[in-house]
Amino acid sequence: MTNTLFIGKVYHRFDELPSTNDWAADFLSKSKPPEGTVVRADSQSAGRGQFGSRWESEAGKNLTLSVVLYPTWLEVSAQFYLSMAMALALHDTVNGSRYAVHGQHTPYTVNRVPCTVKWPNDIYLNFHKVAGILIQNFLSGQHLQASVVGIGLNVNQMEFDPALPNPTSLAIALGKKFDLDAVAESLFGHLERRYLQLKSGGGPAIKAEYERHLLSSNKPARFVRSVDGSEFAGIIRGVTESGRLRIETNAGEETFEVKEVRLII
Ligand code: BTN
Repeated sequence: MTNTLFIGKVYHRFDELPSTNDWAADFLSKSKPPEGTVVRADSQSAGRGQFGSRWESEAGKNLTLSVVLYPTWLEVSAQFYLSMAMALALHDTVNGSRYAVHGQHTPYTVNRVPCTVKWPNDIYLNFHKVAGILIQNFLSGQHLQASVVGIGLNVNQMEFDPALPNPTSLAIALGKKFDLDAVAESLFGHLERRYLQLKSGGGPAIKAEYERHLLSSNKPARFVRSVDGSEFAGIIRGVTESGRLRIETNAGEETFEVKEVRLII
């Protein structure tokens, strides 16, 4: 039983699905599952990553799951706040921070590895990607109607396809194996805490914390402009309300959409 109010209370578990995000979105189109419903698969045959990429995950080794949320109180123009909140929840999980539920500190710390958020919402351990998030928002007028938050967290996988850029897992980074169900429980608690923080007006605090954890921020870094492949030097100074990356360059501050720039690491 989960130690949460609503995330993971309804828990659909599968040995294999094409994609938990697709399953959750399809389920949502036919019914109204309770908020916090989790869809988890031990293996995905067509796991989806950002920008049409594939999410590869060895069967039974990692967490591949989707959470159904109804952030109807969030304006479409503020949807990046949900992305930041979810990234921080994953960051909390990997970093093993403690937090209070009903006024008590919970005992389920996963670990104490320092990690960073790579804009927009990848979780990195020592410059290697340990987790990714794929959020599908369903809109109604000026507000969000529903969201499917898909999370891939590499936990016990020890070997990755060499073609992948720079993957890692908790087990590789920490040298020990983890109980997947315990990591999932911890993740649900952190997701719920960050979601409720956002819902109760904690957006500014979430943005500040997100910016504090951004990989390579406030120090000289190098970037590639997608439009022409040119390299340039700059310093990440944060994000805009809509999620554009703010980079201080020789020419002053510029902001970038996610497909427009790549951080060289
Ligand atoms: C990324 O490219 O970084 C995002 C990866 C998101 C992967 C997760 S795994 C569970 C959920 N179902 C999917 O098909 N994708 C997401």
